[in-house]
Amino acid sequence: MVPMSDHTTRAHWDHIFATRSEHERSWTQDAPTPSLERIARCAHDLAAPIIDIGGGASRLVDHLVQAGHTDVTVLDIAPAALREGAARLGDHAGVQWVSTDLLEWQPPRKYGVWHDRAVFHFLTDEADQARYAALAREAVALGGHLVMATFAPDGPTACSGLAVQRWSADQLAHQFANGFEVVEHASLVHRTPGGADQSFTWVTLRRSSARP
Ligand SMILES: C[S@@+](CC[C@H](N)C(=O)[O-])C[C@H]1O[C@@H](n2cnc3c(N)ncnc32)[C@H](O)[C@@H]1O
Repeated sequence: MVPMSDHTTRAHWDHIFATRSEHERSWTQDAPTPSLERIARCAHDLAAPIIDIGGGASRLVDHLVQAGHTDVTVLDIAPAALREGAARLGDHAGVQWVSTDLLEWQPPRKYGVWHDRAVFHFLTDEADQARYAALAREAVALGGHLVMATFAPDGPTACSGLAVQRWSADQLAHQFANGFEVVEHASLVHRTPGGADQSFTWVTLRRSSARP
């Protein structure tokens, strides 16, 4: 496993989505229940803007739309993933699809909820992790929330041929300490479609005041 440039990262993920069916992807869930439960606890206003960072082809957006959320954005580096989601949902007016490398993105607005399941842990470089935290600080409205799941300290060391960094809840709290405070955290196991168990750390962080 070697560090990748932005360009090769995009090609890597695009190839995975173009060549593996939904049930051949280890991160596929029967239902995105942990995400939905956490988002429901922090997004009481159905008009609150929600962004799913590295949403891929996840069905979370389908469930959010079905639950009545009217302002949902899915951002991903892999155009093939976004095409899959957009084809499933059709021209649903409330959903915006953003095809970009998160680290090259300039948030155009504030969000009430920033959701990330299994994306941040692919950033193994400290400068990229700091850039991610700064982006979240910029994009999440004061009082809004960041809902995040990463591989846990006893979770996998790699996924889809890429190295990952594993995180505890305390480490994530420290990583996002400038501008966010912990609301809840949990350790949950994801069973992959292939039957393997993967330990995840889940945190919900609330956007609070930040150091200049
Ligand atoms: C393991 S998948 C998780 C997908 C989705 N969050 C889920 O839970 O089903 C990781 C996703 O992150 C996306 N991704 C990886 N690096 C990214 C980056 N730098 N910017 C945006 N998306 C990225 C991939 O294309 C892929 O869709």
